[in-house]
Amino acid sequence: MISYKKAETAEELQGALQVRQLVFTKEQGIEAAADLDIHDAYATHFIALKGKKIIGTARVYLEGGNAHIGRLVVLKDERKQGVGTKLMEMAIDYANKKGAKSAISSCQVRKYQFYKELGYEKAGNEYSQVGIPHQKMKRKLGDK
Ligand SMILES: CC(C)(COP(=O)(O)OP(=O)(O)OC[C@H]1O[C@@H](n2cnc3c(N)ncnc32)[C@H](O)[C@@H]1OP(=O)(O)O)[C@@H](O)C(=O)NCCC(=O)NCCS
Repeated sequence: MISYKKAETAEELQGALQVRQLVFTKEQGIEAAADLDIHDAYATHFIALKGKKIIGTARVYLEGGNAHIGRLVVLKDERKQGVGTKLMEMAIDYANKKGAKSAISSCQVRKYQFYKELGYEKAGNEYSQVGIPHQKMKRKLGDK
C-alpha cells in the first residue's frame, strides 16, 4: 500500500533527496549540484512511501505570494499508478491552504500533458534547463 505524508524528520528529508538523486542524476544524467539548491532547506517536502521505502517526492515553497512546486520524481518501477499526480495534488492543496495566488512549476516539455491535467497552463516560452527542454507552467489557486 502506498501512503503519503510531509517529510517531517531529517531522515525523511534525506530519503526524499536520495530519490531525487536516483531519478534526476542517475536516470536523467543531471548533475547533483543542479538538483540540490537553497530552497530545499525551507521548502515543504511531500513523500510517497511503499511500506517504509520512499518511492516519490515533490516540494513546495512560497515566494512573492506564489507557490513554487517542483522536484517531482517517482522511482521508475513505481510510475503510472497515480503517485506523481497524488504528490502534486498534495502540494497544490498545501499551497491553497497557505493562501498562495498561483502555483508555478517548471516542467520538462515531454510532461506538459501531465501538468495540464493538473490544471496548469503554459506561462511563457520553452527554454533549456540542464540541457532538457522546459516550459514554465502556472496554475491559479484559491479554487479549492
Ligand atoms: C513525472 C513523474 C513524476 C510522474 O510520476 P507518476 O507516478 O508516473 O505519475 P502518474 O502515475 O500520476 O501519471 C503518469 C501517467 O500515468 C498515467 N496513469 C496514472 N495512473 C495510471 C494507471 N493506473 N494506469 C495507467 N496509467 C496511469 C497518468 O494518466 C499519466 O499519464 P500522462 O503521462 O499521459 O500524463 C515520473 O514520470 C518521473 O519521476 N519522471 C522522471 C522525473 C521527471 O521528469 N520529473 C520532472 C517532471 S517535469
